[in-house]
Amino acid sequence: MFTLGIETSCDDTGVAILHNEREVLCEYLSSQIKDHSRFGGVIPEFAARKHLENLLPLVDRALEDCTLSGNSLDLIAVTRGPGLMGSLIVGVQTAKALSQVWDVPLIGVNHLEGHLFAPLVDAEDLNPPFLSLIVSGGHTEIIRVDDFGKYELLGQTRDDAAGEAYDKAARILGLKYPGGPEIDRLAKTGNAHAFDFPVPLKNTHEVEFSFSGLKTALLWQVKKCGGNIPVNDLCASFQRAVVEALTAKISLAAKLTGITKISVSGGVSANSALREALTNMKGLRVWLPKLSRCTDNAVMIAMAGRNAFMRSRGVCGEVEADPSLHEL
Ligand code: KG4
Ligand code: ZN
Repeated sequence: MFTLGIETSCDDTGVAILHNEREVLCEYLSSQIKDHSRFGGVIPEFAARKHLENLLPLVDRALEDCTLSGNSLDLIAVTRGPGLMGSLIVGVQTAKALSQVWDVPLIGVNHLEGHLFAPLVDAEDLNPPFLSLIVSGGHTEIIRVDDFGKYELLGQTRDDAAGEAYDKAARILGLKYPGGPEIDRLAKTGNAHAFDFPVPLKNTHEVEFSFSGLKTALLWQVKKCGGNIPVNDLCASFQRAVVEALTAKISLAAKLTGITKISVSGGVSANSALREALTNMKGLRVWLPKLSRCTDNAVMIAMAGRNAFMRSRGVCGEVEADPSLHEL
């Protein structure tokens, strides 16, 4: 079974072809980071236009590289939400057109379910039940996975997502967009205990997150520092608080559910300090995607779409772009 995955929910155009459950035949990503970084964030209209330029050439290249023709595909899986409306429309409308021309079934994928599948691509030994922390630019939530398609949201952020907090913190520090990789890099040579930033909601008994207060604490600290800003120490201290907040709630969720298998995905799962902290958590077994599949990509969409297609025995339903799609 050959599945073409298409991801265009934000500023990355992703195309991948998957053979059967998890054999990745090819994967391409056209990142727009350079285009958007001069504006300090993603410009939605611009992102949509770039997807329009990039998507079909990537699909052509993928088919050529895998020596497949469009009508030899068995399924097209496309992200239908959540995300930026214009970006989603380009992906969904293109996928619909290809599905009609090639007479191939089309399935819409929730971007969050895509992230949930990212660690599974390389992990045959990760099976439900497990807990999934999705930690990206738009979401920070812990989901209980009793089976594929059977998800329960255990808790999420009250305000900013962790990736959003990284991006806002970077902006406060005058670093370029996206802020996560920059802070991660600079934190490596900083002192994580130089500033005693609070670990948000660390001791509450709920599975919940909050990152906007931490960002404000950083802002006040920067103002206090005046002209002499110790950027690396601030990055390391900010990152320590984020990582502690995430790991504390993973521990709590594991304790409350008795589930000790944990998968972590989404852009922030690329963070080196978080990855290290996760692999050292006692009593838990943690799965992470490889670095290139932490952030948005089409392999995870292809795998999630194929799994949903098999679960529904080939019933795909209508596929429409839905920017505020949430519940899995
Ligand atoms: O999953 P993703 O590509 O897009 C969304 O679905 O949101 O995540 C992007 C987010 C951005 O906020 C970015 O700053 C963050 O992931 N990110 C990181 C790292 N790499 C990307 N945050 C912390 N450390 C990193 N190494
Ligand atoms: Zn994402």
